[in-house]
Amino acid sequence: MNNYKNDKKCVCVQGLGYVGAAMATAVALASDEKGNRLYDVVGIDLPDKTGRARVESIKRGDFPFATTDEKLISALSQAHVAGNITATTDETIFSKADIVIVDVQLDLVFREDDSQLRFEGFEGAIRTIGQHAQPGTLVLIETTVPPGTCENVVVPALNDEFVKRGLSEGDLLVAHSFERVMPGDEYLDSIVCFWRAYAGGTAAAAEACEAFLASIVDAERFPLSRLSSLTASEIAKVMENTYRAVNIAFIDEWTKYAEAVGVDLYEVVEAIRVRPTHSNIRFPGLGVGGYCLTKDPIFTPATAEQLHGLRDLDFPFSQLATKVNRDMPLHAVDRLSKLLGGNCEGKNILVLGVSYRQDVGDTRHSPAETLVRTLETRGAQVTGYDPFVQYWQEMSRSLPAELPAAEGVDAVIFATRHREFQVLDILNWLGDSRPVILDTVNIMTGKCRKLCRKSGIQVESVGRGDGL
Ligand SMILES: NC(=O)c1ccc[n+]([C@@H]2O[C@H](COP(=O)([O-])OP(=O)(O)OC[C@H]3O[C@@H](n4cnc5c(N)ncnc54)[C@H](O)[C@@H]3O)[C@@H](O)[C@H]2O)c1
Repeated sequence: MNNYKNDKKCVCVQGLGYVGAAMATAVALASDEKGNRLYDVVGIDLPDKTGRARVESIKRGDFPFATTDEKLISALSQAHVAGNITATTDETIFSKADIVIVDVQLDLVFREDDSQLRFEGFEGAIRTIGQHAQPGTLVLIETTVPPGTCENVVVPALNDEFVKRGLSEGDLLVAHSFERVMPGDEYLDSIVCFWRAYAGGTAAAAEACEAFLASIVDAERFPLSRLSSLTASEIAKVMENTYRAVNIAFIDEWTKYAEAVGVDLYEVVEAIRVRPTHSNIRFPGLGVGGYCLTKDPIFTPATAEQLHGLRDLDFPFSQLATKVNRDMPLHAVDRLSKLLGGNCEGKNILVLGVSYRQDVGDTRHSPAETLVRTLETRGAQVTGYDPFVQYWQEMSRSLPAELPAAEGVDAVIFATRHREFQVLDILNWLGDSRPVILDTVNIMTGKCRKLCRKSGIQVESVGRGDGL
């Protein structure tokens, strides 16, 4: 074994983003039955501003992203004190690794009919592993990739780099096991207390991957599923995310219909959800955001020809779901315009919540972005506030550190279900102000909506007919 120090195995985590930073912490936490930590963990990121900041944060024992998961914060700080986690931008560290976990991003450039995958950065990252890793290292791909990527991109790139070094092809163990991590209150547990699927490029790789995962995840309570090929494991990830995206898109037409016929769709969905077969039917909302659900459904349609030579296969559900989900915030804009008398021009609008998910600061592809951009195109002056976001990267703007006063605001939109908004005493905050309110994420209870209306405030919700 290529031990980094002591007798612990060295695990390098490539990419310290939302997934890699949490996975590195989960690996550092893994212990044997006597409580001895199993791994020395080294996170690796790029030597650019973002990468360096993430590396420095891990080195200090601070999680690099705002999170409400105290367990994750404390696990990282304990690993820091125990000395079995660090980080670097120096890729030669891969030469010390027994296991490399790949958590870099693989981006999609979305175009209506011709989305393009950006393999270059991902392939470059894989090549750096091939340039430094020792024969026998397990390379575990966690990045969400289009089916066929491990066999057609990862393995050839690693082999190519090995041959350049005078080493034999096929001397690295390549496995795939996708992440189901969910940033939020149970960020860490969504890795260590959750089911995992995996596959190896060879039987030896599958065995090594299983042994590693079983040491990180509570596999007794959450058994591992071994799939028979790398491509099957890759499909499992994009298919489960596509299923979710289709499920969300499906609710869009019912949202509009329920509103049009004066029905509360939340009530309808609650009634349907009691059936175990329908328990995951979605509620209405502002739309879909985040890095994954907005791109993963397009991965297979965009690469079926490139990676598998398939020209005649269509993916109508995946394509349509992506389009419906992207356009969903426009419905909220229409409802708000109606509330404002048909025109947003010159109105002061306060958007509460700009991240894509409750109690998380990730703003990538947030539906609030489409909402704000569209409102501004229509002449509104929009202020955003989000307790988890001080600087909104995608919109290049700073946000107020505290909930702004409602004075002078014409409309308030609840756009993310942050806990701070769920417990907000709305009437008290509004004081004498009487903006219209559009609740797109079911923040306001029936009682709260009634109280507001009694006080002369017009309140509407996405998914409910007028006045409900
Ligand atoms: N965010 C989620 O909740 C989530 C959940 C499940 C799966 N995923 C998948 O996991 C992958 C990572 O997602 P993320 O949200 O962590 O992305 P991210 O953009 O937050 O993180 C990726 C990190 O990789 C780094 N990186 C890029 N190239 C590198 C290289 N050559 N060497 C070292 N570091 C490099 C980047 O600087 C960045 O810090 C994606 O494929 C995503 O689809 C994400």
